[in-house]
Amino acid sequence: MTSERLTLKIADRFEEPGNILRLRLTRADGAPLRPFDAGAHLDLRLKDGAIDLWRQYSLCSDPAETGFYEIGVLLDPKTRGGSAAVHRLARPDVAFEVEGPRNHFPLAEEADRTVLFGGGIGITPMLAMARRLHALGRDFVLHYCTRSEGVTAFRDMIAAAPWADRVVFHFDDQPAAQRLDLARDLPKPAAGTHLYVCGPQGFMDWVISAAEAAGHAPANVHREYFSADVDTSGAGFEVEARRSGITVTVGPEDTIAKALARAGVKVEVKCEEGVCGTCVTDVLEGKPDHRDKFLTDDEREEGTMICACCSRSCGAKLVLDV
Ligand code: FES
Repeated sequence: MTSERLTLKIADRFEEPGNILRLRLTRADGAPLRPFDAGAHLDLRLKDGAIDLWRQYSLCSDPAETGFYEIGVLLDPKTRGGSAAVHRLARPDVAFEVEGPRNHFPLAEEADRTVLFGGGIGITPMLAMARRLHALGRDFVLHYCTRSEGVTAFRDMIAAAPWADRVVFHFDDQPAAQRLDLARDLPKPAAGTHLYVCGPQGFMDWVISAAEAAGHAPANVHREYFSADVDTSGAGFEVEARRSGITVTVGPEDTIAKALARAGVKVEVKCEEGVCGTCVTDVLEGKPDHRDKFLTDDEREEGTMICACCSRSCGAKLVLDV
């Protein structure tokens, strides 16, 4: 699906439990919105004083809805400014510059069986997927994991949904039988069974490694990281921007994108932590040291692309097609 830049305004704002804001956005010009594919996200530009950031938020509304889009935004205590800016700025009628919808987490709609795992704010793309799977009449279950019932967002929305009986809640502060138990809750591997995982990094790593150890094909275990702890440190190396005819040095605490920007070569970045794919750049020579969570295992193996916001070089030099 192609994406476009547009201006959306806040039509409504709902305070959900767990410091989560559910925002309803409509077109500022009142025109209908494009339907989107389940799993898609919006890029929101957050501009306020010294802040000028782009951040990605999964759409949780019905993919077929053209009157509004909805996103959920957790006020992250480790925020780098993005989520705090949304909570502060997003008031009714305030307009935001937006790109999308864009989908890096597509749903295999023909699957025989789909099992969705949403941890905390990672529930948002799962809500759109549940709506779509229900509309298609597919077999699915949604496991929704949070720290406790009191901080569980979207409960009213889920309770009112016609697919509410497909949702299994798991709260970390409850007895073991109520918590997510992967030995019990992972389905048996099968070619037509697809799993989707989104949530905090530890939750995702736990579910993905258990699924793969249980024999699920990596191609059937779909994942979307909404943030990641990326280690961008390491020895310095050179990057040649071949089309620009410039070579820069990337220092130990530096990134390729920043080093190139200082030399006047622009690589667009948004999340700056290896999850959104905006900065993906073609590699012409050299071996990337991948630090992102965006590229697939096959793409890493091929070594022909790199996330310039966080990844580094295995050798002394990389040549990029910029
Ligand atoms: S800017 Fe998002 S992956 Fe690099």
